[in-house]
Amino acid sequence: MDARAKTGVSIRSAAKRYGQVVALDDVSLDIAPGEFVSLLGPSGSGKTTLLGILGGFVQPSSGAVWVGERDITFAPPHKRDIGIVFQNYALFPHMSVGENVAFPLRARRQPKGTWAKKVADALAMVELSGYESRGIGQLSGGQRQRVALARAMVFEPQLILMDEPLSALDKQLRETMQIELRRLHRKLGATIVYVTHDQREALTMSDRVAVLKNGRLVQIDTPERLYDRPCDAFVASFIGEATLLDVTRAGDDAVRLGDTILRTAHPLPRGNKLLLAVQTEKLVIDGGGVQNGNVNRLSCRVTEVLYQGESLRVFAALADGTAISLRQPGGHDARRRIPEPGAQMSVTLDPQDTIVVPA
Ligand SMILES: Nc1ncnc2c1ncn2[C@@H]1O[C@H](COP(=O)(O)OP(=O)(O)O)[C@@H](O)[C@H]1O
Ligand SMILES: [Mg+2]
Repeated sequence: MDARAKTGVSIRSAAKRYGQVVALDDVSLDIAPGEFVSLLGPSGSGKTTLLGILGGFVQPSSGAVWVGERDITFAPPHKRDIGIVFQNYALFPHMSVGENVAFPLRARRQPKGTWAKKVADALAMVELSGYESRGIGQLSGGQRQRVALARAMVFEPQLILMDEPLSALDKQLRETMQIELRRLHRKLGATIVYVTHDQREALTMSDRVAVLKNGRLVQIDTPERLYDRPCDAFVASFIGEATLLDVTRAGDDAVRLGDTILRTAHPLPRGNKLLLAVQTEKLVIDGGGVQNGNVNRLSCRVTEVLYQGESLRVFAALADGTAISLRQPGGHDARRRIPEPGAQMSVTLDPQDTIVVPA
């Protein structure tokens, strides 16, 4: 599939109201040609509504959608050059794999002589070459999802929309498909907008992740930026495994947590009462070895150690009783460093990892 598939998308102040319910509240978002953007948020945050506005199934109450040079805000779905994959596949059960994949070609009145090659190419993309005559009932869940993908790609759309396409699959297959989809995206070069409520999935697959909450776009960033620099407590607690701790301002680049002063490498938000957002794996048990002299140190008492296979979760309490938790890799060396419950320990936190958000 070719460079024609590379078109950017611009959502401009899109809003959607259903009576009193504000499903989407003034969302603006520019997606670059060939970019993979995930819409991430809890249930009811407006992800499907935003995807529907892109696909033409939902009319925005206000705002506009542009694809490339074209304002498509009021174009019907079949007049948009967009491929769509849903969670429940939405395949036609009475048609063969080949007929399912050819369906968009038929609907778009593409010359019949071209179908067979296009279908074969699309099936090859999803590693189902030769499956044309199979019935849908003869396929596993993962294979059905691939057929749905092939059908979305067969007409080389400018834009592919996916609404939780892997959520019906079991964990192992879901993770395999995440990696495959990511590869497929690189190969196709198509612009993809992908809805998920699974933060790990969003981080794994996307060039950028847009976090939605109550119909609003809270933050859009690369996975690394989102994880390392969440803009508020919601993003920090939704991504990863952050603990939020009450802190107060202690100068321009430091906060006070109980009796301890912690320095941060990042500008502090306004206000005196703030929140420290710390991901479990960014707290490191102080092994007494050579350390960067700039790290923050916290003393605490171990309260509980949970073995979780590939890693261990350590719960601890600061002097004033504040609970913190950290994660250690499951290897023997790392495990030896974990003190017994009841013991005191010192943990370090790099100022780069000392993230403070508004309270
Ligand atoms: N057709 C509709 N009629 C009324 N309310 C709706 C409709 N579709 C969505 N909503 C409401 O809009 C909000 C966002 O829904 P949705 O976009 O489906 O969220 P998500 O996909 O993030 O779970 C929810 O509060 C939902 O109940
Ligand atoms: Mg949804």
